[in-house]
Amino acid sequence: MSAPRNDGPIGVFDSGVGGLSVLRHIRALLPHEDLLYIADSGNAPYGDKPPDWIRERSIALAGWLAGRGAKAIVIACNTATAAAAGALRERLALPVIGMEPAVKPAAAATRTGVVGVLATVGTLKSAQFAALLDRFAGGIEVVTQPCPGLVECVERGELDDPATQALVSRYVAPLLARGADTIVLGCTHYPFLRPLIAAAAGPQVALIETGGAVARQLERRLHETVVARHHEMRGRDAFYASGDADLAARVMRRLWADDTPVEPLPASLAQPA
Ligand code: DGL
Repeated sequence: MSAPRNDGPIGVFDSGVGGLSVLRHIRALLPHEDLLYIADSGNAPYGDKPPDWIRERSIALAGWLAGRGAKAIVIACNTATAAAAGALRERLALPVIGMEPAVKPAAAATRTGVVGVLATVGTLKSAQFAALLDRFAGGIEVVTQPCPGLVECVERGELDDPATQALVSRYVAPLLARGADTIVLGCTHYPFLRPLIAAAAGPQVALIETGGAVARQLERRLHETVVARHHEMRGRDAFYASGDADLAARVMRRLWADDTPVEPLPASLAQPA
């Protein structure tokens, strides 16, 4: 017997606009699904916040998405996945798809045997990241680089400003100095800085991100649990933001589409408890 059809949206959240780098893969792979996205921009960055805070906030955001009928939750944030994926899976009777830096494909791709990982402080300090290295980084050298300030550049829409470029160069240089030929973009905000990172790294260095793999995992989980939508209509996108929703809207229109409507998150969720 096939699983029941479910027309609920796919709920996606991130500390801000970075998760749109995942959402674009989801939209490309699943054109008929409705997508409901929260940018928690009023609280970005998550990267230097305590894991307990991120967990509670993620429970609140995912709970709201579930309350709006979401049939699956995507944590479009490496930092929130490390802090909260387990708690969300315990609490929600829905598929919860998280993400982690792409160490496994990077380890398979490197020829120099040195992989660089750009990520937030929170991701790099997490037990999940240590476990990821234990599992997949045997026999290669992994050079990690926390990147304070980069998420804020993306949140402000400063994708190619000289100050952003200088910060990117500062974070990429130590990876190159150690001989990395493969760099993992371990935070969903960083794909929006890809041109700057590629310019700093040079053409011989491969950049790896995780959005495509997350979208494929979501598709698999939808087919295992609730049937994905099959009809001719294009799915709708709905966007919510905390903090300065006008600023978030300006940036999201640049990163997503010119006419992206962005609503403020409801007051009960606008600020964390
Ligand atoms: N975009 C998020 C990630 O993938 C979090 C960035 C942040 O808010 O520090 O890690």
